[in-house]
Amino acid sequence: MPGDIVLLGAPGAGKGTQAQILRQRFGYRQVSTGDLLREHRANGTELGKAAESFMQRGDLVPDSLIIKMVEGELEGPGAVLFDGFPRTVPQAQALDALLADRGRGLPRAVYFAIERAALEARLLGRWTNPRTGRVYHETFNPPRVAGIDDEDGGPLVQREDDKPETIAKRLDVFQAQTMPLVAYYAEHGDRLVTVDATGSVEDVAHQLIHAIGVEHAH
Ligand code: AP5
Repeated sequence: MPGDIVLLGAPGAGKGTQAQILRQRFGYRQVSTGDLLREHRANGTELGKAAESFMQRGDLVPDSLIIKMVEGELEGPGAVLFDGFPRTVPQAQALDALLADRGRGLPRAVYFAIERAALEARLLGRWTNPRTGRVYHETFNPPRVAGIDDEDGGPLVQREDDKPETIAKRLDVFQAQTMPLVAYYAEHGDRLVTVDATGSVEDVAHQLIHAIGVEHAH
């Protein structure tokens, strides 16, 4: 079984879309901090309440809350795909320490390189199944029936933070707080690979599978 992988990229770069593909084809476990936080909010937990205003503004939720939440997800079989985590250098350092404590190797990171101009169109057209986290795009990756999930037949929704002003804020936050992780993973153990995230879903999946070396792992 391959090791743990961090999917690193701007909002809309396609991390969730690709995580879903790798999960289905190679049996990875997906840990998406965005999906976990939305679940906490839907269930009205203390963490969900604490995270709400940060998420509505497009800001990051404080590191201490995120690290505690992820710690609870690390037990379990199989390699993990971290989707949307870590997002700050302290989160990356904490993840390395948590995995080392559990005798797991350090994760490798895949950076999804894409121009900012392409991201807004992806986020404005996104539709999500809130129960499973599966994502579609009304133009680039549409469901068979508009507004309905192909898999479970349930309704698709648009995320509250996919509005132009919140998208702009999230992209600024990514640039300032998460981009330094590209250097972190390159410089701490040469653990970074980059994929060109501007192509089609299939094209990016092909590059990603090659980059993490699982093409013969079926
Ligand atoms: P989160 O849910 O993680 O959102 P995000 O990082 O902003 O990422 P997205 O889910 O928007 O994008 P994605 O890269 O997964 O793209 P997708 O595959 O959906 O975080 C939300 C909030 O939670 C944050 O703002 C923050 O407040 C908080 N949070 C979460 N984690 C945190 C952390 N670690 N620390 C602190 N706070 C945290 O694709 C986007 C669209 O494009 C879809 O419609 C898709 O169909 C389409 N698409 C995908 N690939 C392609 C392609 N190749 N070509 C054309 N269209 C494509």
